[in-house]
Amino acid sequence: MTVNILVVPGSLRLASHNRRLAAEATRMLALSDAVVTLLDLGDYPLPIYDGDHEEEQGVPQNAVLLAQRIAAQDGLLLVSPEYNHSLTPLIKNTIDWVSRVRKVQGRPIQPFKGIVAGLASTSTGRFGGMRGLEALRIVMRALNAEVLTEQCTVPNAAASFDETGRLADDVARTALEALVDKLLDTSRSLGRHA
Ligand SMILES: Cc1cc2nc3c(=O)[nH]c(=O)nc-3n(C[C@H](O)[C@H](O)[C@H](O)COP(=O)(O)O)c2cc1C
Repeated sequence: MTVNILVVPGSLRLASHNRRLAAEATRMLALSDAVVTLLDLGDYPLPIYDGDHEEEQGVPQNAVLLAQRIAAQDGLLLVSPEYNHSLTPLIKNTIDWVSRVRKVQGRPIQPFKGIVAGLASTSTGRFGGMRGLEALRIVMRALNAEVLTEQCTVPNAAASFDETGRLADDVARTALEALVDKLLDTSRSLGRHA
């Protein structure tokens, strides 16, 4: 069956290794019959979460748009760097705002509940962002996403991509392919639109 998968890099940096990894995963997903979208969070700028902002002005429109997009997916692939052993402020802030969207056009919405979430990361360090993914896993579980146990971490990012930005490391490529396959399989069986 056809499933919808959204790929979201957790870095805005133009030369981001995680954006490259996300693009690689998107190419792999596109070989299946899934409907795949690579999202750029730069297209959905959001202020830092502030309860006063929410109370006075409501949830920003970009968070509502993201919530609607996420709610329409079976699977979500988050590809995010590790900052100080945790997730990036971009990913955390985005998730926090989106989690505040409770209704769209009067209808209740739980954007993350039941979505099949795959996690991937690359870092210039030797752990490949593994600790950041643990922090991200906790957040996604708190929102009742179906977080895959399998994940993909690519260490030594600077040496793992070639000059065109493609993933050149065979071990990393195999690990990413395995995660992509698992995400597709699980989205087909557990996806919200199954
Ligand atoms: C504030 C900050 C904290 C970082 N902390 C870590 C860290 O804890 N572990 C790690 O492996 N890399 C760390 N890095 C290095 C990032 O993994 C590296 O800059 C990576 O390329 C960022 O991802 P991007 O290329 O997708 O933007 C940190 C970078 C920044 C800017």
